Amino acid sequence: MATVTWRMADGSEITADVINGNTLMESALDNDVPRIFGDCGGSLACATCHVVVDDAWIDKCGSPGEEENDLLEMTDAPRQPNSRLSCQIVVSEDLDGLVVNVPEP
Ligand code: FES
Repeated sequence: MATVTWRMADGSEITADVINGNTLMESALDNDVPRIFGDCGGSLACATCHVVVDDAWIDKCGSPGEEENDLLEMTDAPRQPNSRLSCQIVVSEDLDGLVVNVPEP
């Protein structure tokens, strides 16, 4: 288990214990996080799982791969330096305490 916080544009937050091995997108759907849709089921085809990783966590979350990097140009909300597609982040103990922002278009 790892505790993850999704921070909305209005400042509200959803914090939940999530299962290791699930993606951050799946964890968001499990916890009814607004604006995370995961339309393609995590197959890097939709960009509806966009999050912006908090500065303190960007090293642990890593950088997007080439395909993810290309798809990040198609997000509804403008891409930011810490943007990631949350279907490509797998939850582990290392991410316990993770904070991500959910951007609005
Ligand atoms: S769920 Fe479709 S790209 Fe992440």
